[in-house]
Amino acid sequence: MSAMTAEGRTVITIDGPAASGKSTVARLLADRLGIAYVSSGLLYRAATHVALRSNVELTDEEAVVTLLRSHEVALEPDPSGNRVRVDGVDVTAELHTDAIDVAVSTVARHARVRAWVTERLREVRGSFVIDGRDMGTAVFPQASVKFFLTADPEVRAARRAGERSGELRQVAERLRRRDEQDARQSAPAPDAIFLDTGPLTLEEVVERVLQDVRAALPLGAVER
Ligand code: CDP
Ligand code: CDP
Repeated sequence: MSAMTAEGRTVITIDGPAASGKSTVARLLADRLGIAYVSSGLLYRAATHVALRSNVELTDEEAVVTLLRSHEVALEPDPSGNRVRVDGVDVTAELHTDAIDVAVSTVARHARVRAWVTERLREVRGSFVIDGRDMGTAVFPQASVKFFLTADPEVRAARRAGERSGELRQVAERLRRRDEQDARQSAPAPDAIFLDTGPLTLEEVVERVLQDVRAALPLGAVER
C-alpha cells in the first residue's frame, strides 16, 4: 500500500454493508487524524430524496439523471457529519428515513447516477476518510488504506432498529433486501483490511483501525 495517492494526499476508504459501523468509525477516525470525513451514501440518499420529491419513476434512469442535473446538490464535508444542500436548502435531516432506506438502492443501481456521485466525490480536495460501498474499488482505487467492515446481519439489524422506527423483524428484512440490492457495488477491494465490528465496541474498532493506519502509513504521512 502506498502512503499517499498520486496527488500527495491521504484517502482512507471504509466500505461495508448497512449498519456495519462505517459512518461512525469513519467520522471518529477522521477526527483522530485531523482530516475530513466524507459520506458517499449521503449523496445517494440525496439523489433519492430529490427523485421521491419530484415523483419521477425511480427505475427510469434517464428521468432521474435529468432531474439531478437540473438541481444543485452540494455535499459539505464536516467533521461532525456531512450536510447536503439541494439548491441551497439543507435537506440532511430528511435523508435517514425509512422511505429513503427502502428506495435508495433502486436509485443507486443506475450507472449514470453512480457516475454523478463519483464525479462529485472526485471534486473533494485534500485528505479525508470516506465511507460507502465501492470507495476502495470503483471510486478511489488508489486510496492510501482501505477497510471493509462487517457484522452479522442480526447485529446490524439490532443496531439499525435502535435508530429507526419499526420492529426488529421488519428492520432485519429491509436490511437483508438492501444487502441483496447493493450486492453488485459492494464487493470488497482485494487489498482491503477486513474487520468484524460485531464483537467490538466502537472505541475498540477505532483503535484497531488507527493501528492499521499507523502501520500502513509512515509516521506523520497523513497530509491534510
Ligand atoms: O449507512 P447505510 O449503509 O445504511 O447507508 P449509506 O451508506 O448512507 O448508503 C445508502 C445507500 O446508498 C446504500 O444502501 C446503497 O444503495 C447506496 N450506496 C452505494 O450504492 N454506494 C456507496 N458508495 C454508498 C451508498
Ligand atoms: O454507516 P453504517 O450504516 O455502516 O453504520 P453506523 O451508522 O456507523 O452504525 C450503526 C449503529 O451501530 C450506530 O448507532 C453505531 O453507534 C453502532 N455501532 C456499534 O454499536 N458498535 C460498533 N462496533 C459499530 C457501530
